[in-house]
Amino acid sequence: MSDDAAVEAVAGTLLEQGLRNLWYPIAPSWQVGENPLGVTRLGDRIVVWRDRDGAVHALEDRCPHRGARLSLGWNLGDRLACWYHGVEIDAGGTVLDVPAVDSCPLTGKTAVRRYPCREVRGAIFAWFGDDLHQEPAELALPEQLTDDHYATMLCVATWGCNYRYAIDNVMDPMHGTYLHAQSHSMAQGNRRARLRVVPTETGFLCEKEDQRNVNFDWVEFGATGGHWMRLEIPYGKSAGPGGPFGIVGFVTPVDRETCQVYFWRVREVEGWQRDLWRFLYRTRLESLHWDVLEQDRLVLEAMAGDAREHELLYQHDTGLVRVRRFMGKEAERQAAALAGGGARAATAPAPDSGRPPVDEARIAGGAGSSARRQRFHPRPNGELEFNPWLAEPRGSKGDAATVEDFAEPLLYRWQNRARAPTDHESRLADELMATFAAGVHDLPGIARRLNESGLAGPGGGPWTAEAFSAAVRDLASP
Ligand code: FES
Ligand SMILES: [Fe+2]
Repeated sequence: MSDDAAVEAVAGTLLEQGLRNLWYPIAPSWQVGENPLGVTRLGDRIVVWRDRDGAVHALEDRCPHRGARLSLGWNLGDRLACWYHGVEIDAGGTVLDVPAVDSCPLTGKTAVRRYPCREVRGAIFAWFGDDLHQEPAELALPEQLTDDHYATMLCVATWGCNYRYAIDNVMDPMHGTYLHAQSHSMAQGNRRARLRVVPTETGFLCEKEDQRNVNFDWVEFGATGGHWMRLEIPYGKSAGPGGPFGIVGFVTPVDRETCQVYFWRVREVEGWQRDLWRFLYRTRLESLHWDVLEQDRLVLEAMAGDAREHELLYQHDTGLVRVRRFMGKEAERQAAALAGGGARAATAPAPDSGRPPVDEARIAGGAGSSARRQRFHPRPNGELEFNPWLAEPRGSKGDAATVEDFAEPLLYRWQNRARAPTDHESRLADELMATFAAGVHDLPGIARRLNESGLAGPGGGPWTAEAFSAAVRDLASP
């Protein structure tokens, strides 16, 4: 293979499995508890765990001794211990102890790759540097994730498609009017538009020329240490007071055929109105948003794996054409730098890459397999501990479907809701949405409407402005 062809091949692999030298979200915070979690991201097997102080760490999920997955082992508070022969590794990837022998040259060696981590707004981000960029770049997130004026709720879903289809989907505002025509937020506006691309300081904007604040009318792509997208869709009146419904999205490749989407649902809203939004979100709005997301997932998962090779694009595809060009150039740049530096591409196929990765999802797939039994996790004291999050739901391409495979996605889906709403909460949510739809947004007006509805107030008494704002504070928490 000529040098150029080799660089091109590496660039192609980077594009297909995920560009390097970027931060990516790799798990929602709630998914990483005490037990080590094994995940596959960008084709890499990674173990994510929390030390006894709650700090998150990520390491290559491969024991330096004989390659057992460290995620099957134990979390000892300041280190992981491999289940196979007990080798202990610290958060920096250094072997601290080899308990099976008196003294071992492996002790003290840094033999496991570390992925620097950050935890932001309910998600764990990891740095995926190539061999020339092991130290992380700065991650500058959109203000919706850094400014306290914005309330956010994260949703994470695993989709059975290459990650580039998920990016294309968000960079394509026009699909809102068609695919989501029956949704709560995208039924309005022109069904025909011209789109244009406008450069920004950190990327570009793709917007409809003649329509704003009606439907999904613009989307922004930014490259600031991670690749993100953001958009806004006007909320209907029934969603109550506050700004429009915003989304900040990241897409993380899992393997060539699977990705994860991380969508922060954002609203600029404060005080009792923020509590109110959280309450309505938990009781009513989240399910509407999942309906929309499922429409996206169904279309993308049903597309042929090589659909991008047989396209006939037209004017409104300008946003995704632009992002593809940007990512293609970046892949070429990274591949050329690696070739020039004589470095190995971090995405070079691993020796066992012909086998499907045994990630958290596939572990769940094999009914009765030893991996499945491993969800009952042996602790050093001999007890078995159930670890429901060792596995992650698989969506529509699960292997052997079992009751557990169906139950887990349900748990996973309603991740902003720790419990089902009570009857009283459901009625309250309905009354409130009707109140806002009628244009009543002030506290005394809300209290009056609730009293007229006959719905009992806190402690069985009448609603007042104070009683409502206090009650909604409690109701906001999941
Ligand atoms: S493979 Fe991990 S200790 Fe042997
Ligand atoms: Fe969509």
